[in-house]
Parts: sequence; C-alpha cells; structure tokens
Amino acid sequence: MIQQEKINGLVERRAAARLGGGQKRIDAQHQKGKLTARERLALLLDEGSFEEYDMFVQHRCTNFGMEKQHFDGDGVVTGQGTIGGRLVYVFAQDFTVSGGSLSKTMSEKICKVMDMAVRNGAPCIGLNDSGGARIQEGIDALAGYGDIFERNILSSGVIPQISGIFGPCAGGAVYSPALTDFTLMVKDTSYMFLTGPGVVKQVTGETVSAEELGGASVHAGKSGVAHFAADSEQEGIAKIKELLSFIPQNNMETAPELPTGDPLSRVDDALNTIIPDNPNKAYDMYQVIRSIVDDGNFFEIHESFAKNIIVGFAHMNGQSVGIVANQPKVLAGVLDINASRKAARFVRFCDAFNIPLVTLVDVPGFLCGTQQEYGAIITNGAKLLYAYGEATVPKVTVTLRKSYGGAHIVMSCKQLRGDVNYAWPSANIAVMGADGAVDVLYGKEIKAEEDPAKQAEIAAQKKDEYNDLFCNPYQAAQKGYIEDVIEPRNTRFRVIRALESLRGKRQEMPAKKHDNLPL
Ligand code: HXC
Repeated sequence: MIQQEKINGLVERRAAARLGGGQKRIDAQHQKGKLTARERLALLLDEGSFEEYDMFVQHRCTNFGMEKQHFDGDGVVTGQGTIGGRLVYVFAQDFTVSGGSLSKTMSEKICKVMDMAVRNGAPCIGLNDSGGARIQEGIDALAGYGDIFERNILSSGVIPQISGIFGPCAGGAVYSPALTDFTLMVKDTSYMFLTGPGVVKQVTGETVSAEELGGASVHAGKSGVAHFAADSEQEGIAKIKELLSFIPQNNMETAPELPTGDPLSRVDDALNTIIPDNPNKAYDMYQVIRSIVDDGNFFEIHESFAKNIIVGFAHMNGQSVGIVANQPKVLAGVLDINASRKAARFVRFCDAFNIPLVTLVDVPGFLCGTQQEYGAIITNGAKLLYAYGEATVPKVTVTLRKSYGGAHIVMSCKQLRGDVNYAWPSANIAVMGADGAVDVLYGKEIKAEEDPAKQAEIAAQKKDEYNDLFCNPYQAAQKGYIEDVIEPRNTRFRVIRALESLRGKRQEMPAKKHDNLPL
C-alpha cells in the first residue's frame, strides 16, 4: 500500500514536471505559433524511444525570490532517443520555465548529454528557445555557457552537432549554435543576434525589427549563420531528421548506405547538350547534380546563401557523398568571399566525418574589386583552398567547362590531392579565358593597328590560337593533371566507379598539434 502511494507520487510528480512552467505558459507558447520542448522532441524522436534524464533537477539560485520558484527539470528537457533507429542525444529548452533562460543547473543537464553523446559516439541535437543567461544567476549562468561552449569545441569533428533555433537566441547564447556543424532556424518565430533591436537603437540609433536584425531569412540568406530556414517547426524538425540520414554517427564511422534501384550505369544524353555554345551563357548546375546522383535526390545545405556555389548531400550507388558545385546561373559561378566560406565549411565537415567529396567545376575565377579585396577575399578564398588540400576523404572532381587560374587550383585539383579528376570535352583549363589572355599578351600590338577591322582580325586570330592551345581539357590530360576526358552522358557511371575504387582510401596528415587554417 505504502509502495503504491510512492509510485502514485512519482507518476504525479512526473506529470507536473511534464507541464514545465504550467498550462498558462504552454498556452502562451502555442499562441505565439510555437511548440513546447516536449512536443518538439516527440516530433523529432522515434515514437517511444525517448529516455529522459534529470527530470527532477532544480536550480540552486537564491537571488531575487528565485528560492520560491522551482520547476522540476529547470527549463530544459534532456535525454537520449533514436531517429530512424539510430541513437541521438538531445536537449530542448523549455521557454515556459523562466523563458528557457540558462541557469547553472540547466547547463549541467545539457553538458551531461553532450558528454554522453561523445562517449557513446552519437550526434547531439540542441533545440534552442531561450532568453539567454538567467539574469538572477549572474556569473553562474555565464559559467554555464562556458561549460557548454567548451564541450561544443571538444566534440567538434568527433560527433555531429546540430542546433535547431526555435525561439529567441540572444547574447552569448548564439555562440553555441555557431560552434555546431549545422544551424536551422524557423521563419518568423526564431531569431539570433548578439544584441537585440533595443540595444541597437541605443548604441547606433538604427531602428530595426527582431526579424530584420536576426530572423531566419537574414541568417539563411545574408550572414550564412543558419544553414536552413524552415517555414514551420514541423518542417524544421523533418529537415534535421533528413540531414541525419546522410551523415555518420561519429568520426570513426561512415554514413549509412541507402540502397537504390537507380542503375549505376544509367546514362543521361541530356548532359551531352547541356553546355551552351556561347561560353558566356549559363546553364543550371542543379540539372547536372540531379542527373548524376541516385534517384535525383539532392539535400542542399545553405540553399539561400552564396548561391554561386552549391553544396549538399546525395547518395551515389548508395554511398553518401558531399557535392560541391559552381553554379554558372548565379554570378557566372564566380568564387567570392561567401561562396568560399560556405564551401570550405562544408568540405571540412565532410572530411571530418568520412564523407567522400564530388566536385563539379565551372568557375571563371575569383571575384575581383575593392569590395572583395577589402573583405579579405585572399584569406577567405584560402579557406576553401586549405579545406580541399587538407581533406583526406575520397575526392572525385569533374570539370564541365571553365576552370581558370586560382579558382582551378582551389576547386579540388589534382595537386590538392584530388584522387580522380575528370573533364568533359567542353572543359577549358587555363590561366584565364581567351579574351583576358589576348588582351594581356597582345593588347598593345592590337591597339597599334589603326584599322578597327584589322584590330578585330588580329584579336580573333590570337584568340583562336589561344583557345586551340589552352582552352580545352587536352593540355591537362596530356600532362596527367586529369585522369581522363569523359563523355558527359557517362558522368554518373564514371564518378561512381571512381568512388567505389576509393572506398579503401588511406591518407594521413603529418603529425601536428593542430593546423592553423586561415581565419
Ligand atoms: C531570467 C528570463 C530571461 C532571462 C526571459 N525571462 N529572459 N528570466 N533571465 N534572461 C523570463 C521573463 O522574466 C518571463 O518570466 C519569461 O521568461 C518569459 O519572458 P517574456 O519577456 O515574458 O517573453 P517574451 O515577451 O516572449 O520575450 C522573450 C525575450 C525577452 C525576447 C527573450 O524575455 C528578453 O528580452 N529576455 C532577455 C534577453 C536577454 O537580454 N538575455 C541575456 C542575453 S546575454 P515570467 O515569470 O514573467 O514568465 C547572455 C549572455 C550569455 O545571454 C553569455 C555567454 C558567453
């Protein structure tokens, strides 16, 4: 009898804890168009798989009347579960308890699951919805953030870390998501900034709304802080689940295979005619990507940011691969600061987590001009160069059309330890295009001619000479800088065969404490 009463007590206490800050605050959360922490976890995890930890943890703060305000769980729901049968560790901040603000005990709960995730080699997913450091706790709350950041750093490259931003994320709190591998935001209900609109107004006089300052569209399109902007929480959670299907549990494993009925020998005649006769005309690189990957299924990262380069995951003959491709349809596929940063981060993720890289090249060069130079295109471009050069995962590259100058080197060339490099017959691998080269080499000679018709004749003749000599893939092929010139329609088959041959690749880096990549 006494035992039964104790069990009933436990059931009641659990039920109360599940209500977080109470039904009124849950209703308020719903009225804002937001789900609660537990509703989010229920959507994220396989049904019945959630194992909760530290449900009864309470804060230890005695300032500002906090000693009279206790909620079991203290504003965060933590634990483990499975997604598609694979183990993950999770924490979801509960805005109904002190606005999800971070106390020392909340940080201890979060750190516990982060430690378990590393120990057991499973991804850690944080669903953030918080007013930042719990003001009443002062330095303890700040120390709590420090504890989390340190774990983010130590876990980086060991387990995948994913941040979902499902509410406010202000102040130093934005740095934990920034340290993780992928950040997802929800349009209209989430925002990230160091200082909110009020402080901005005070300091700079600028009037700006929270959405304009740090909404999902801003960070997914302008700053690149967010990799995904979802229309709803449901869509965001589905995106996180799909992302996980392309990546391994940890850095000692490979990503799960996805069996496909799509034949590896499938050819696509449309690729033989996709390159326009006019070198200045664009075509859509998405068409090439979808043509060569399994079932045309491409999972894009940073879709709205630096659209002149495309990055994302796909499967090829069942194997998960990272695709990096210049997009001729946007800024002619030129490499600029944002494109370099975006691709470098992606290449490094793939390398850390054993995901082979497939690079599709059509790049006219780096973007020139004061804006880019002042913004350090040199350092930022070097990030991508560095990322490819240090990557030891299998690297297969196909040059479709332009591959000029420094951008040729950066885009996974042979000398950056590219494993298998192919080119289409339409490839132009050279220091620069014919127009620029003829101007540099023969500009004075051409201008010395008085007759404009004669000028045009000489220029055309020199361009033809240059094109014949350099603007083709055969110079590179003759010298062994590419393995083969391939027919475009066979690209899927040739890339897959290369990837299959590289499954056992082993390549080491020289011993060092850590590298010093250009930042
Ligand atoms: C304690 C907090 C809190 C906080 C919110 N609450 N933020 N309690 N510490 N940081 C409480 C509120 O008092 C309120 O309690 C409840 O949470 C809900 O908050 P509301 O303001 O009613 O909600 P809303 O109108 O939706 O506004 C949400 C908000 C706002 C935009 C997040 O609360 C806000 O601006 N909070 C402060 C944000 C901030 O400046 N944080 C510090 C950042 S600096 P009741 O009891 O009324 O329900 C930082 C340093 C980290 O984080 C450094 C790391 C290195």
